[in-house]
This record gives sequence, structure tokens and C-alpha cells, in this order.
Amino acid sequence: MVTRPAPSLRADGITAGYGGVPVIRGISIAAGPSEIVAVIGPNGAGKSTLLKSLIGILRVTSGSVFLGTDDVTNRPPEELARRGVGYVPQVNDIFEPLTVLENLHMGGYLLRASQVQARVEEVGQVFPALTPMLRRRADKLSGGERKMLAIARVLMLDPKVLILDEPTANLSPKLADSLLREHVTRLAEAGKAVLLVEQRARAALQVASWTSVLVSGETRLEGRPQDLLQREDFEALFLGAGPSGPARNTVEEENEDR
Ligand SMILES: Nc1ncnc2c1ncn2[C@@H]1O[C@H](COP(=O)(O)OP(=O)(O)O)[C@@H](O)[C@H]1O
Ligand SMILES: [Mg+2]
Repeated sequence: MVTRPAPSLRADGITAGYGGVPVIRGISIAAGPSEIVAVIGPNGAGKSTLLKSLIGILRVTSGSVFLGTDDVTNRPPEELARRGVGYVPQVNDIFEPLTVLENLHMGGYLLRASQVQARVEEVGQVFPALTPMLRRRADKLSGGERKMLAIARVLMLDPKVLILDEPTANLSPKLADSLLREHVTRLAEAGKAVLLVEQRARAALQVASWTSVLVSGETRLEGRPQDLLQREDFEALFLGAGPSGPARNTVEEENEDR
């Protein structure tokens, strides 16, 4: 048996979708302190839908979401943010006409004024590259810097759970690698529970402590990355899901079994 920490965030059999049509069905997933739980799977599998239903953007129609032992199913996103869940969406929600520092201040909207500067400094220790850019407008940043800012903004509230939706999308392989290996790993080591959605299956497996494979809205497979890697059908099963792998629908076509 694999021993995992008590979950900080847990979904228990959740179903959710758009306009009454379920997109994810019966998904259970959990992330505890210092874990990096990777959700991988082909484009359109429902990974972003899962994250949105965890944090109250999308209505969960059955199943439950827990924060520690508290049921937070369908609580509004602001409440989850206030209770320590940080969410970085797939498309950066940074404010381009504002400076890096102003963006960080917006991220710290729940803090007392006296706490803000200390948080800016702490977040600067996580992303030292941002510190010399505090006065720069966000629209002058590179793609990698913008992604760092989007994460840094969410870190302003010092969340205990960090939910990242494809943080490496549109980054070079080198930048993607360093974001996952250095920054995301370090945040987990500092005790955060990290739920990481990734299209780069291989890179995600390198850093994850637990992996869930989502295909067509359902969990196809889950386990420790090293155990999943030993499966004979592993390559076909989900390395096909990466942007550089074979066609994305290989996963759905060839693996009807579980
Ligand atoms: N706002 C929306 N309205 C209706 N359908 C949506 C919406 N967003 C996503 N979908 C559909 O839900 C499915 C899963 O999408 P998504 O969760 O974005 O997948 P992934 O993040 O794994 O690529 C897709 O079929 C997509 O077309
Ligand atoms: Mg997505």
C-alpha cells in the first residue's frame, strides 16, 4: 500500500458539465500537504472542467468536494480563495496594463495593508526573476515571466492548496522543465498541496507524487508515477496525450479497458 498524507483538498465522485450535459463523471481525486498530484490526459478530456468544479466556478451536480474535513461543494470561488485554495487558470489572468507589483497587490486583496509588503518579498523569493521587474508593466513580460506572475499573484494569499491548469503551456521545453522542477517542486516541499494539470505527461511524471489519467471525462488510471511507468501499455495509454506524442485520440481509441 502507498501511504499518502491526509488530503487538504478532496473530490469524491464529482460530476459536472456545461448546460446540464456532464463532461466529467464520478471523478475522485485528492491532494495532501507536500504532494504534487498530476492530472494528465488528452485535450478535451475534462481536466480544466475538473479544476473549475473543484473551486466553485462550475456547478457540481453530484459528488462532494472537501477542504480538510469541511464540505465545500459548490461554495463560491471567493470562499475557496479565502480558505486557502489558490487557482491559476489555463489562460493567465494577469492585468496587462498594470505593473508586476500592482498585479501582486491585486492578488493580495484579502490581506491587511501591513501584510502586503512582506508577502511581496516572500513571493519574490519563490520567483526571484520577478523582483527586478516589479515596476514593469505586465504586458512587457515574456511568456515565462507572465506565467510566473500569474502563479505569484495567487501565492500572495499563501494558499495551502495550489491548483495549476497547464502552467507550462506555450513555454519552451527548457522553461517548462525549470518551472516544474524548480518552482512547483519547491512549493510542494514548502508544504503546499499541489494539483497540477499538464499536457506534458512526461514532465509531469518527473515531479508528481501521484498521477491520475483522465480520458473522456473519467479517471482511466491512477497511481504513483513509478508504478504507472511500469505498465506495458503505459506509452500508448498516456504518453500519447502529450503535445509532442502521437495523435491525441490514440488514448481513447486504443484503451477502452481500464
Ligand atoms: N464553457 C464551455 N461550454 C461548453 N462546453 C465546454 C466548455 N468548456 C469546455 N467544454 C467542453 O468540455 C470538454 C472538456 O473540456 P476541458 O475541460 O477544457 O478539457 P481539457 O482541459 O482536458 O482539455 C470538451 O469537450 C469541451 O469542448
Ligand atoms: Mg484544459
